[in-house]
Amino acid sequence: MSNRLNSTPNDLRAFWMPFTANRQYKKEPRLFVGAKDMHYTTHDGRQVLDGTAGLWCVNAGHCRPLITEAIREQAGELDYAPAFQLGHPKAFELANRLIDIAPDNMAHVLYTNSGSESVETALKVALAYQRVKGQGSRTRLIGRERGYHGVNFGGISVGGIVTNRKMFGTLLTGVDHMPHTHQPAKNAFSKGTPEHGGDLADELERIVTLHDASTIAAVIVEPVAGSTGVLIPPKSYLQRLRDICTKHGILLIFDEVITGFGRLGTPFASQYFDVKPDIMVTAKGLTNGVIPMGAVFVTAEIHDAFMQGPEHMIEFFHGYTYSGNPIACAAALGSLDTYRDENLLTRAAELAPYWEEKLHSLRDCPNVIDIRNLGLIGAIELKPIDGEPTKRAFNAFLNAYNDGLLIRTTGDIIALSPPLIITHAQIDELFDKLRKVLEKNI
Ligand SMILES: Cc1ncc(COP(=O)(O)O)c(C=O)c1O
Repeated sequence: MSNRLNSTPNDLRAFWMPFTANRQYKKEPRLFVGAKDMHYTTHDGRQVLDGTAGLWCVNAGHCRPLITEAIREQAGELDYAPAFQLGHPKAFELANRLIDIAPDNMAHVLYTNSGSESVETALKVALAYQRVKGQGSRTRLIGRERGYHGVNFGGISVGGIVTNRKMFGTLLTGVDHMPHTHQPAKNAFSKGTPEHGGDLADELERIVTLHDASTIAAVIVEPVAGSTGVLIPPKSYLQRLRDICTKHGILLIFDEVITGFGRLGTPFASQYFDVKPDIMVTAKGLTNGVIPMGAVFVTAEIHDAFMQGPEHMIEFFHGYTYSGNPIACAAALGSLDTYRDENLLTRAAELAPYWEEKLHSLRDCPNVIDIRNLGLIGAIELKPIDGEPTKRAFNAFLNAYNDGLLIRTTGDIIALSPPLIITHAQIDELFDKLRKVLEKNI
């Protein structure tokens, strides 16, 4: 066998890469050929410190033995079992393990294969729930400006990132959006939850008044908005959303695709903020990013509302060929074991003060106009180059990659979300490298 770790494909044309500047990439390819713990290995043999847990998903670090072993064993024992009208033990075991660590009002789990599918599933559960409860007029879905809920039609409809929406027609009808919570004039360089903007939740009251509560099924938000460039919810904001939803019989959906599995120092953001949604959307860290899988959590009240009619009838006409795939379940169980054995679901709480201090120490770097953080999440907003928005941050990304550090950028914002196993010394290394990048005239 050839030495695959050093091999480079010689034709990159066929693969149309997702969310990628394809032409730039193919002129100057960046390939990872290996990974272990906090580092990637590039095709040219360099080590790159993972400042983003892959895409916010590799929470336990790379190539962790319990996960790798679990996948290996499962692949040799039971590769696939039909997901409809049949089952296998690990799907049930995993659901119970997930409920054990979930907010205490969560009672049941539906499986998907990605965050985007989890979002679609949650929106469909919400609409169908209102209908089985005799509230079929509740068909509207409310999202938020700058929200990211994946790339499928429901998700981009309730999402609020214009580049992800504008090409795709009229999307779902009957969707409205709350304003986003980014208020740099008042909150720049906030540490943790910003002081100003809790009252923006009251915009939901205005939307309810406009449409009438009897037409609204659900509100969906990310507890911490990630993909738009990290927007931390202002103090009291999420509780106010919860109160307004409860008052009007509207379901509250938390999209915890990035905040789930320890990112804030609690298993889920719901527990960090002590605000309970009715439906919780997860993916990514569920399997440590290793196998595609998502899970949607619902309350007993929602689940039980469907359990009626003749017992031989399917209660909810929804599911995927790969819902609860055995190998994905094994990967998720291996991930939960790793998180448990290494206390990773709470580790971010211990690291957060040091992380915050080091992150905010970059405040004096050129072109930094805001820094924000929560748990093991950080963002650095850069002043855009005149007439060339996004270029400064993209330059930072390229420079960091060449200097052995993986960061993620959206617009002119650098987002950081390292694996939860990061050490203090690696936090130092990450911010030393980033300072050098920012001090280059990018
Ligand atoms: C909050 C949120 N929801 C949904 C998604 C979509 O997940 P996926 O890319 O697995 O479809 C993401 C991905 O980043 C996300 O951050």
